[in-house]
Amino acid sequence: MPYRTIIEPFRIHTVEPIDFPTETERHEALERAGWNLFGLHADEVIIDLLTDSGTGAMSTEQWAGMMRGDESYAGSRSYYRFRDAVKGVTGLEHVIPTHQGRAAERILFSTAVKPGDVVPNNTHFDTTRANVEYQGAEARDLVIPEGKVPAARHPFKGNMDVEALRATIESVGRDRIPLVMVTVTNNSGGGQPVSLANLRAVREVCDEYGIPLFLDACRFAENAWFIKLREPGYADKTPREIAAEMFSLVDGCTMSAKKDGMSNIGGFLAMNDADLAHECRNLLILTEGFPTYGGLAGYDLEAVARGIEEALEEEYLRYRIRSTEYLAEKIARAGVPIVQPAGGHAVYLDAGALLPHIPASQYPAQALACALYLEGGVRGVEIGSVMFGKPQADGTEIPAPMELVRLAVPRRTYTQSHVDFVGEVMIAVAARASELKGLRMVEQAPWLRHFTARFEPLV
Ligand SMILES: Cc1ncc(COP(=O)(O)O)c(C=O)c1O
Repeated sequence: MPYRTIIEPFRIHTVEPIDFPTETERHEALERAGWNLFGLHADEVIIDLLTDSGTGAMSTEQWAGMMRGDESYAGSRSYYRFRDAVKGVTGLEHVIPTHQGRAAERILFSTAVKPGDVVPNNTHFDTTRANVEYQGAEARDLVIPEGKVPAARHPFKGNMDVEALRATIESVGRDRIPLVMVTVTNNSGGGQPVSLANLRAVREVCDEYGIPLFLDACRFAENAWFIKLREPGYADKTPREIAAEMFSLVDGCTMSAKKDGMSNIGGFLAMNDADLAHECRNLLILTEGFPTYGGLAGYDLEAVARGIEEALEEEYLRYRIRSTEYLAEKIARAGVPIVQPAGGHAVYLDAGALLPHIPASQYPAQALACALYLEGGVRGVEIGSVMFGKPQADGTEIPAPMELVRLAVPRRTYTQSHVDFVGEVMIAVAARASELKGLRMVEQAPWLRHFTARFEPLV
């Protein structure tokens, strides 16, 4: 159509009211939560951009599918529909359902990784890193140099540094690298895509050394859309064809269906290696459930089976990627530093650049996330030294490479006016950036501390 405006490719069918806590209520809530936005009650939040994981709206087809959920313990019809849908999109032979992405990670790493191993990735997501480290192995991030510079523009900033991968294999030794992972899109690195050329180059290195390659496929459909838009030779391919090419280059994948499975819960582990799949299924039975449900209800399997197809629809992807870019443009036009270009599922604010007066040891990105909440009830998430800082024995910390706040956009959930509101709130906070103060961490867990850590504001 000859019109510029890209519209939401759906009508609203059911509405969920938003609460409007006052400024005083927001302050009290944040104090109670120990200045950690994970501790807020959802009704204390006006616009919730904490995560795009499981927070989207499902389609009428998904809800209809749920009514057909077969809750048989073993061999449910819903499992076979799920398996066929996943196989249809990925081409991978063995499909193991899990309750979400981290369960797939835990099962894969418990089976394939041992203490002393090194797992390279472009950038490990927090749960992926934690699950690798839990096995006593090292999670090594090897994104290209541009991927670590928020303002640097590159069409595929999520690409893996192929030479760094080769150097890692040479120095660590092939025997200590049980697998290589590539995360699409690269969530912790700004939601940036990985090109097919890069994936092919990584595959070649893996083949040279005989190392299996796995995708962390959470946002495979968004990655496919970016390839269509930006990689020469792919403009005329469908997202499904591009996704098929991505999956054809790997031996397996972990997946959180709470992202591009368009579902509120679910995930899977898929692979071609029958022996590895056999071991993974045995472990699945121990903690998740029988291999034809893997911790999910039959109706959840139905929702994923439809969701994974809907995530590849062109009209949906065009709207999805454009709405994130729209928020990024609004914020960047007002001079707020962000990771450029916009990510697929989120806008990443560069708190390090906006708050240069707050050192990493006082968690500038956490301070910015709290300020956004206090200003307008907008909940984002810190992706900086709270999430990825490394505490040392002497009480100091190695800071994260970047201090970011992620504003993740739930799928098919908010309208353009919600996004405009978020832009206004961000611009208001940026106008008084020099007045913001850092935080002191007063409580932390040994793993994934960002979920439960407590802070006190510095005065
Ligand atoms: C890239 C990536 N990998 C893994 C996960 C873990 O998935 P889940 O939250 O379903 O356990 C996430 C979740 O946000 C993610 O973004």
